[in-house]
Amino acid sequence: MQSNDLAQLPLRQRIKARAERLFGAWGVFFKGFLKHPVMVGSIVPSSDRTIRKMLAPVPWKDVQLFVEYGPGVGTFCRPVLDKLPRNATYIAIDTNPDFIRYLRKTIPDSRFVAVHGSAADVEDIIASHGFAHADFVLSGLPLSTLPGTVADEIAQATHRALRPGGAFLIYQFNTFTTQLLRPYFERIDRGYELLNVLPCHLFWGWKAQDESAAEHGNR
Ligand SMILES: C[S@@+](CC[C@H](N)C(=O)[O-])C[C@H]1O[C@@H](n2cnc3c(N)ncnc32)[C@H](O)[C@@H]1O
Repeated sequence: MQSNDLAQLPLRQRIKARAERLFGAWGVFFKGFLKHPVMVGSIVPSSDRTIRKMLAPVPWKDVQLFVEYGPGVGTFCRPVLDKLPRNATYIAIDTNPDFIRYLRKTIPDSRFVAVHGSAADVEDIIASHGFAHADFVLSGLPLSTLPGTVADEIAQATHRALRPGGAFLIYQFNTFTTQLLRPYFERIDRGYELLNVLPCHLFWGWKAQDESAAEHGNR
């Protein structure tokens, strides 16, 4: 059921449908955490305040392709779809097949594509959907606990995948992200949200409009 459909229901049914949706999603998320604790990295989905703050700097009317890494049970998906232009595309990539199945079942929106795969393969994934670049990439990945060099490979691949002037949006429980983004992104803006389990750090890594100028200062 879509948010718009919910609004048509009487109050009691609306509350019941919202509760079922919330606890259904939390149940799937918690099961995912029990199965793959390191890859999921959290026991509770992000709060509404985190979502609002994280997405606030996105100029939605300019977005043609929005990509999300680690959507889990889709906590960000509906808020993103509510803002995304009608003709835009939203690709959500997760390594957990249970989450991808859940997203495909619960988000019937023609702009939304749930892909079972790794964020490290973002360039191939967007190319296979007909895109050369993404405008914005959002990440809920537990970057500091990913194995080996995976986090750095993801930062590099994301930088290549973004259009000039686009941004990599990241929410994390620690500040490891700054050192990860610094070699590749021209400007890193930071924020913090206390009302989240756990309180989290927010990062916006902006890709330079003119990469050749930024390369001298950045690498
Ligand atoms: C903390 S959870 C994200 C929660 C969700 N986005 C939210 O806001 O509540 C991390 C997610 O990253 C996924 N994940 C871990 N490694 C990944 C990778 N290399 N590529 C894509 N997804 C990955 C996990 O399966 C999990 O769904």
